[in-house]
Amino acid sequence: MMRHLGGAESTEKIAERQSRYERPGSGQFKIVDRASGDGVGWVGFWDGEWGEQQIYEIGWSVTPPFQGRGIAVAATRQVLDVARAQGRHRYVHAFPAVDNAPSNAICRRLAFELIGTCEVEYPPGNQMRCNDWRLDLLAGR
Ligand SMILES: CC(C)(COP(=O)(O)OP(=O)(O)OC[C@H]1O[C@@H](n2cnc3c(N)ncnc32)[C@H](O)[C@@H]1OP(=O)(O)O)[C@@H](O)C(=O)NCCC(=O)NCCS
Repeated sequence: MMRHLGGAESTEKIAERQSRYERPGSGQFKIVDRASGDGVGWVGFWDGEWGEQQIYEIGWSVTPPFQGRGIAVAATRQVLDVARAQGRHRYVHAFPAVDNAPSNAICRRLAFELIGTCEVEYPPGNQMRCNDWRLDLLAGR
């Protein structure tokens, strides 16, 4: 799961993030399999800064047994509607590692525009070569 995100994390780090994500209004959503009620992943957005611009950044994750079924694309589509409705920023950026094929496919599928590549430090101390994908939430409105 963390191959393209700097590797495995400690239990403490996961618990700390979980508690932040569970706070109301965090912008982070659990993806639930309707049939079983199981939690199968997460998708969420947060405020960021890119260049001089205030943006949303978005991320996603689906557990291995549920991958490859279109769940990430469907869940991300819903969360983009939430970000659009909140209306704080015009652009959403995603920064998947250049070799993270499924993540880059999600961006392509949801009509993000590939702006270029960039170096991202995540987590601190780990340099990653990432694609910079951008979606204009006002496009077509
Ligand atoms: C990225 C991730 C969320 C995708 O979840 P998913 O539910 O399997 O994705 P979907 O089924 O919605 O598929 C999304 C696209 O990826 C493609 N895809 C899926 N697995 C793929 C693979 N191994 N190689 C290439 N493309 C792949 C699908 O074909 C689909 O593209 P399409 O709609 O053009 O056909 C999942 O692989 C994951 O959690 N990875 C680990 C965490 C991670 O890297 N998160 C992203 C950080 S930027």
